[in-house]
Amino acid sequence: MSALEDPRPLDVLADFPAIPEGWAYLDTAATAQKPRPVIAAIDRAYAETYATVHRGVYQRSADMTLAYEAARERIARFIGANSADEIVFVRGATEAINLVAQSWGQAHLKAGDRILLSMLEHHSNIVPWQLLRDRVGIEIDVAPLDAVGRIDLDAVEAMLTPKHKLVAFGHVSNVLGSVLDAKRAADAAHAVGALLLLDGCQAAPRIALDMRAIGADFYAFSGHKLYGPTGIGVLWARAEILDAMPPWQGGGSMIDRVTFERTTYAPPPARFEAGTPHIVGALGLHAAMDYVDGIGLDAIAAHERALVRQARAALRDMNSVTLFGPDDAEGIVSFAVEGVHPHDVGTILDEARVAIRAGHHCAQPLMAHLGVPATARASFGVYNGPGDIEALVRGIERVTRIFA
Ligand SMILES: Cc1ncc(COP(=O)(O)O)c(C=O)c1O
Repeated sequence: MSALEDPRPLDVLADFPAIPEGWAYLDTAATAQKPRPVIAAIDRAYAETYATVHRGVYQRSADMTLAYEAARERIARFIGANSADEIVFVRGATEAINLVAQSWGQAHLKAGDRILLSMLEHHSNIVPWQLLRDRVGIEIDVAPLDAVGRIDLDAVEAMLTPKHKLVAFGHVSNVLGSVLDAKRAADAAHAVGALLLLDGCQAAPRIALDMRAIGADFYAFSGHKLYGPTGIGVLWARAEILDAMPPWQGGGSMIDRVTFERTTYAPPPARFEAGTPHIVGALGLHAAMDYVDGIGLDAIAAHERALVRQARAALRDMNSVTLFGPDDAEGIVSFAVEGVHPHDVGTILDEARVAIRAGHHCAQPLMAHLGVPATARASFGVYNGPGDIEALVRGIERVTRIFA
């Protein structure tokens, strides 16, 4: 194959010390590699400026509190929130969605209420709602997908009724890379009086976000997919919604006053952040957002779309490969090689120094819908280039030779 050209080179590979030369890392949808400024921010926080937040009376702790709250402000700017008070620090998207289900869901939903999910959801946007269903007695409906794997919003509009109190959709599918028209989904939910929760895990690293423009009510994402540390993530919700939500975990930091008779709670976001938080994680996420904004999300999106187009074109030329998802997917390409289990595809690619994900991608209902037990998935980040696609294609050619 002739060398592919990079139409949108970002040229940042040198920022990523954990990607050795000749290793094609194509698993960014699972977790992104970390750039030097993020590693440096974490190192500096532990090696030079470390202290607890919100409690200490000494200067170091006051400084760390400022840094921790500055990270919250940074996140608010990154996603176009109205204020930092709308940003709740959580462990990741999984915890964010569980928080909404346990706090908002238990307080506001009752037996007979319905919520609408879609066929492409990650398990973290399915199972928390099933737990709630088992406790409260809500009903769960599932929106279908269109022919290329986007959530079918015509069907959504036809399915929604005043009994629906929440619509919870993935903004970008972690398997198909398909993108939701989030504004239209918000309008459809609001038309029947429901709220919209978006799982933005795969969108936040790839699409410039503006909470005011999207019109959603909850937005969840994980820092580690956005080039930040693990163990830190974000729940955004509109201020008046957070205000009306009860705490979901009790402990230090989330209280106003505690007696054995009665406890009153802090206002949001502290009400939802019981215990000592992941202080350094927040600082690392701040550095990650600076890094991403330094490149520019529009440039990142253009780069990844170009890689998706190239990858899909190259794979489409191979007779034995089936592609899933739309051609205009964001940064993610799922595929199958005829007669070869995706785990074998992944193992042979690993021997060729190409790291992909093979499995159900925590989306078993979607696998059932696609009629496969698993897929192979290549997903891109800022550090990938056409050389990685060439390595992927050469690796798949080897797979087909071995299994011929
Ligand atoms: C679409 C989507 N939602 C939710 C999650 C869960 O993220 P985390 O494991 O960081 O909580 C993932 C991670 O794979 C994802 O891709």
